[in-house]
Amino acid sequence: MMLRVTWRRVFLGLAGLGLGGLLFVFSGLFNVAATGGHWAVTDWLLHGAMRSSVRTYSLLVEAPPPLDDRALQARGAGHYAEGCAPCHGAPGAPQNPVMQRSTPPPPDFSRDIEDWSPKQLFRIVQHGVRYTGMPGWLAPERHDEIWAMVAFLRLLPELAPEDYRLLADGEMAGRPQGGDGFEAALASCARCHGRDGLGRDGAAFPRLAGLSEAALLSSLRAFAQGDRPGALMQVPVQGMDDAMLQALARHYASQPAAAAPGAPAVAPAVLELGGRIAREGIAAAQVPACLSCHGGAARARNPLWPRLDGQHAAYLETQLGLFRDGQRREPVMRTIGDRLTEAQAKAVAAWFAGQAATP
Ligand code: HEC
Ligand code: HEC
Ligand code: HEC
Repeated sequence: MMLRVTWRRVFLGLAGLGLGGLLFVFSGLFNVAATGGHWAVTDWLLHGAMRSSVRTYSLLVEAPPPLDDRALQARGAGHYAEGCAPCHGAPGAPQNPVMQRSTPPPPDFSRDIEDWSPKQLFRIVQHGVRYTGMPGWLAPERHDEIWAMVAFLRLLPELAPEDYRLLADGEMAGRPQGGDGFEAALASCARCHGRDGLGRDGAAFPRLAGLSEAALLSSLRAFAQGDRPGALMQVPVQGMDDAMLQALARHYASQPAAAAPGAPAVAPAVLELGGRIAREGIAAAQVPACLSCHGGAARARNPLWPRLDGQHAAYLETQLGLFRDGQRREPVMRTIGDRLTEAQAKAVAAWFAGQAATP
């Protein structure tokens, strides 16, 4: 006897299969233990799906900035040591053995890293990988931070252990880390900012020395409360209480400022435009003079207005971009960021970086 295929039978058959599957899962016979690892077929399916998804969605990613930039690599490395190495390992620092036992285990980058393009790496780092424990970026809109991580990941396979430590830990390389109390906290900040607050590797980290205690504390609180998105700073301050933030702000405020880093190589006309915006603002666009708040006399009146002179141009420009797109939300600067064009922001940032002490 031949069984005739009808829609009704197909439907009943599928429903039966689904019901059987559900029964199997909820009967408790389906084995969720991670100890056996995935079956080869599950592994192939999951990783295959991941590869295809990454390939497709990476088509939407913007063009990368130049990635062979030491400042970018250092910024990525500083975060990698804290946020990624426990799972993925690093040169001279093998994976945490507990993580090796998760399913699937995080790939061990201390040995090798698969050949992903920069845009594909961006996609993986920004969104993570579902069903695997690979987390997405804490501040997914901070493309500048994610590119810094991509720049570092591209360099990682070539790094000798000593070079890795230097890039990740700066002056704290090779020194014991961890523990509680002020000294341990300061040591964790010093990996990126140095104990003197002057940073390292060019413009990798903003200068903290020379900023007022009030401005430093206001920034630290904004990171700790999630008001100022940025994985690189949110991770180090998470779990610190306000007394510790105050102590750290006090430490960095007491460090002497250094000579200005100098304006980046831009045309004289650009610097001139930047100086004019700082002194006079842009009347037509209703942009006030920056120095009316960021100049020395104004800062003496209100220590919450941060100094910009002596800061790296790249940092200032990035922050103006964050005000423009609403990631930093302080209302006055949010409006000013919105009214400055990218070219004007670049010019005024370059001008401030070349100033020793503004009037
Ligand atoms: C809790 C552990 C964990 C942490 C923390 C973690 N990852 Fe992963 N990561 C994984 C796992 C598991 C996979 C495997 C995903 C897969 O096989 O599809 C993975 C995959 C990746 C991949 C794809 C590699 C490949 O060859 O398939 C990259 C790139 C990556 N992680 C980068 C990072 C970066 C950068 C960080 C830090 C910001 C990070 N990961 C933090 C667990 C982690
Ligand atoms: C992984 C590197 C890294 C570590 C560790 C780190 N920082 Fe930062 N810090 C940065 C970066 C990068 C920025 C710029 C943030 C941005 O662009 O959002 C920053 C910004 C800041 C700012 C804001 C400066 C301003 O002008 O508004 C302060 C204050 C600060 N850090 C203090 C600290 C303190 C205190 C610690 C230790 C608890 C610390 N940082 C740990 C990388 C780091
Ligand atoms: C009315 C006062 C005021 C004026 C005018 C002003 N700012 Fe600000 N600016 C602030 C305050 C307040 C902050 C701190 C914002 C915060 O806490 O997030 C700030 C922060 C900044 C920052 C971030 C600094 C850091 O260390 O993170 C930049 C960059 C900046 N301003 C650039 C400018 C520029 C460029 C102009 C002129 C076009 C300007 N500001 C005009 C008040 C002002």
